[in-house]
Amino acid sequence: MMPGAVFKITLFMTNSTYFPIDKLKEGETPLYYYDLHLLDETLDAVKAAASYPNFHVHYAVKANSNPEILQRIAAAGLGADTVSLGEIKAAVTAGFPAPKIVFAGVGKTDAEITTALQYGIGCFNVESKAELEVIESLAAEMGVKAPVALRVNPEIDAHTHHYITTGLAENKFGIAMTMIDELVDYCIKSESLDFRGFHFHIGSQVTDLTPFKILCERINSLQERLPDIEIPLINVGGGLGIDYDNPDSNPIPDFKSYFDIFHENLKLRPGQQLHFELGRAIVAQCGSLITRVVYVKEGVGKKFVIVDGGMTALIRPALYQAHHKIENITSNSDIEERYDVVGPICESSDVFGTDEPLPLTKRGDLIALRSAGAYGEIMASGYNCRPLPGSVFSR
Ligand code: LLP
Repeated sequence: MMPGAVFKITLFMTNSTYFPIDKLKEGETPLYYYDLHLLDETLDAVKAAASYPNFHVHYAVKANSNPEILQRIAAAGLGADTVSLGEIKAAVTAGFPAPKIVFAGVGKTDAEITTALQYGIGCFNVESKAELEVIESLAAEMGVKAPVALRVNPEIDAHTHHYITTGLAENKFGIAMTMIDELVDYCIKSESLDFRGFHFHIGSQVTDLTPFKILCERINSLQERLPDIEIPLINVGGGLGIDYDNPDSNPIPDFKSYFDIFHENLKLRPGQQLHFELGRAIVAQCGSLITRVVYVKEGVGKKFVIVDGGMTALIRPALYQAHHKIENITSNSDIEERYDVVGPICESSDVFGTDEPLPLTKRGDLIALRSAGAYGEIMASGYNCRPLPGSVFSR
């Protein structure tokens, strides 16, 4: 291994942890590295900022379902937000109590609904009348009451990438405000449905908090419109963004400002519970994709750094034009060069960065793509028959 590498990488990870670079063997990259100390610090910050007695934070399992990560989040006492039976099973296995699991998604199958009822999950976040009717009939067959919240489409522009905005009328998610009264009535009259309240989610990687304030206003007016309906809970979803450009100077999102927006702007009724579903903000910064330089290729007027992990290991740049900070964690060179950092996949979109300033880079160097703990490992694919990336953890 390259001399100085351990020192370099010790600095690389938030000063607190040590990446076992000297133990990393040829062929073990690409892999995800998780800084569990940072995850713990982030969980402490979430819990401190959300310490109001009626606030309940569910971790959005879709962001990262690595068992080690899930177990840690379960042990911290958070609930789980899930969107498939696979996620429900992963959450239960990791130790999340079933009553603290919520289940969303526009396409829940009969088998998923039945098993979720058997587990005794806390709430179904229901996305349509068609789904509500199926949940009702399956619950009736089982002789149970299904806890349901109606997912309302609040028609708010979260000002994020159009693939991850969900709260607009044109999106497939949620139920239009105009249909809500009818469906609330349906729930209340049903013998097999237990109406719990309303669910919202406006989008992901939301960095300007104003849309959350607008969400509070929408929820207030909805509640004012239904004064006689008992609404035990409000679920405001997730979406809090992170600082992809500054993972070291800004590793923990400003949870206090986020939770305080809801504390200050939502007019909750006495005894009403407030649920959150945060994914990215909890796990993004603790993870990095570590990938090895296979070749440095001289192109026409530019140089390419070709790494062994591409869009199959981390798809966010190809899919959302996302940029993850790129670092050469083994080069000790003082010479800075500009490179296009690309993966090995046979797709032109398999690019992590163009014109990236990096220290002089050579074959065999290790490259870190930072802030990859959310929607990284979990979205990896086997395209081109590539193996899925593994994972290592700070201890
Ligand atoms: N609740 C619901 C109903 C959701 O649809 C989502 C994310 C969350 C909670 C968690 O959102 P978060 O706190 O992580 O922003 N793959 C994309 C992100 C897709 C998010 C989908 N829904 C990406 O890599 O940016």
